[in-house]
Amino acid sequence: MPKHPDSGFDRVAPFYDKLAKLIYGDALQKAQLFLLPFIPERSKVLVIGGGSGWLLEQLILTGKQLDILYVDAAPGMLERAKQRYKGITQPHSCQVTFRLGTEATLQPHEQFDTVITPFLLDLFLPQRLQQLMQKLTAALTPAGNWLFADFWPIKQPTPYWQKFLTWSMYTFFDAVSSVESSKLPDYGRHFQELGFKETSSQSFYNGFVQAKVFMRK
Ligand SMILES: C[S@@+](CC[C@H](N)C(=O)[O-])C[C@H]1O[C@@H](n2cnc3c(N)ncnc32)[C@H](O)[C@@H]1O
Repeated sequence: MPKHPDSGFDRVAPFYDKLAKLIYGDALQKAQLFLLPFIPERSKVLVIGGGSGWLLEQLILTGKQLDILYVDAAPGMLERAKQRYKGITQPHSCQVTFRLGTEATLQPHEQFDTVITPFLLDLFLPQRLQQLMQKLTAALTPAGNWLFADFWPIKQPTPYWQKFLTWSMYTFFDAVSSVESSKLPDYGRHFQELGFKETSSQSFYNGFVQAKVFMRK
């Protein structure tokens, strides 16, 4: 049993990035890169579920002056992100705080101009996802951006190969990382219910992956 809540990705931390690259090439990274221009200069950014730190390095490479809180539930993932950060040699003006834990660790006074959920929201059953998204909504300033990247088939009905990939991922991550959900959430409904509208969007990997910017209506 994992010691920390939601820490099941600890078991895949040593090989998660290689596995994702093997299956998706650079599509998951391209989806996240699409989001970076939407981060304002000199702003506070929450990255939740960032994994081993690739995205953190990209945030720093933007050259923007960012105050970043990097939260991940898996000790192995967070440790990798810290090591990656230590390896960045170029001068930059970002301030980074690492935090082991989940959205539950966010305090009411912690407010962010940007919240990034990179391939995080697909992990949760609807009720838990609703609670998590409510918590992140509370942490986002009124004019803030929610930067989303995840598996979200754009074509309906969903092509068979996308159904197969979805099933394979949930079967694998249920077995090794105790992911409880077994189907992709209705992200659109959750954002709608929380009062968000989509302001930008792009699809990747033949429409299986989408990156989107949400703001309050
Ligand atoms: C599917 S991986 C994605 C990692 C990374 N964003 C990427 O795209 O390579 C999901 C990440 O979310 C983390 N995670 C899962 N539940 C979490 C939670 N409730 N709060 C914070 N991080 C969480 C996992 O430890 C893992 O690092």
